Amino acid sequence: MKILITGGAGFIGSHVVRLFVNKYPNYQIFNLDKLTYAGNLANLTDIEDKDNYTFLKGDIVDAAYVDGIFNEHQFDAVVHLAAESHVDRSITDPLAFVYTNVIGTVNLLNTARKQWADNLQDHVFYHISTDEVYGSLGKEGLFTEETAYDPRSPYSASKASSDHFVRAYYHTYGLPVKISNCSNNYGPNHFPEKLIPLAINNIRNEKPVPVYGKGENVRDWLYVIDHARAIDVIFHEGKVGETYNIGGVNEWKNLDLIELLCDQMDEKLGREQGHSRKLITFVKDRAGHDLRYAIDSSKLMNELGWKPSVTFEEGLSKTVDWYLQHPEWLENVTSGNYQSYYDQQYVSR
Ligand code: NAD
Ligand code: DAU
Repeated sequence: MKILITGGAGFIGSHVVRLFVNKYPNYQIFNLDKLTYAGNLANLTDIEDKDNYTFLKGDIVDAAYVDGIFNEHQFDAVVHLAAESHVDRSITDPLAFVYTNVIGTVNLLNTARKQWADNLQDHVFYHISTDEVYGSLGKEGLFTEETAYDPRSPYSASKASSDHFVRAYYHTYGLPVKISNCSNNYGPNHFPEKLIPLAINNIRNEKPVPVYGKGENVRDWLYVIDHARAIDVIFHEGKVGETYNIGGVNEWKNLDLIELLCDQMDEKLGREQGHSRKLITFVKDRAGHDLRYAIDSSKLMNELGWKPSVTFEEGLSKTVDWYLQHPEWLENVTSGNYQSYYDQQYVSR
């Protein structure tokens, strides 16, 4: 089977590519990525020489390019992760999110529909989405697959739009699709603009850790490898036309989470307990900041038998260890050097 994974050089995509390349040696895995600031081939050095892995540098917004690679490689399936993914960036530059998340997704859908027209039922287009499409919860309740969409940031509006297009191609053209909506991920290779890796990097460097507002917003955190495991299960066993929510049953107020992280890092760095908490700095709140996300994953757990493999304390500890053991990764992505890694390694392919 030939599978096109988009966004495979990013945070979650790199874990999905690694899992598929290692677990399914008979599959041919193609990783299509534009290598934006968030794409980093250093995330994949351990598998880049495997026979069943091919990297394709390209932009999903370029319809002719997308047509061309489908013609050349005749993919059987798509696992679509490529996106602009950071809420704060979407507030300053919404159009970038419309181009990649909406137009890029529709380009992939159009090409898949044309290419697979003769035997649609033998293919699958699996779209990876977010719980943010459901909006913001109050103190009670969970997002289920039936929760009405209510996106509130330009990022979540663009992801909601892409989800609607994916479902429209299922209903209108019979394209076999699957969608999953996941909560906040954390783990190795997370770009240090997002809360957890930013805080780890700043604590490591004894710099202020910015907490928006009063730190009372709640997120439901899932270890990235557990998300990749869920994607594997849904890709192989999920029903066509269905949506699956993925979450960690693991809600944390931002401030509580950052305090836990400070305490774990004080212990690992041999600092006095309480030292890093002094770095916590309350800053201006995010515009339109969603109060709470929390996911009901019982459909995925009951129907497909998936459950998270690590507790949050274990996952966070493994994550901190990974960043402390890979200071060069952090330094490269914060200095922009990872772009030259691409130029050196891949420009001639
Ligand atoms: P990321 O920003 O780390 O990676 C995105 C990748 O997509 C990068 O490698 C980037 O180079 C690539 N990309 C961006 N624009 C492209 C384009 N036009 N053409 C080709 N490639 C392009 O994102 P992530 O956090 O790994 O998220 C991956 C997917 O999972 C996204 O669709 C996101 O909406 C979704 N998601 C993320 C989370 C999370 O907590 N990070 C949770 C739920 C869902
Ligand atoms: O819920 C899934 C979503 O989770 C994904 O779809 C997004 O791609 C992903 O980026 C993430 O969105 P969030 O906005 O929840 O993640 P972020 O790490 O940016 O912020 C987490 C929380 O921490 C949020 O309440 C804002 C807050 N925050 C964030 C940053 C960057 C801070 O308090 N300080 C910060 O410096």
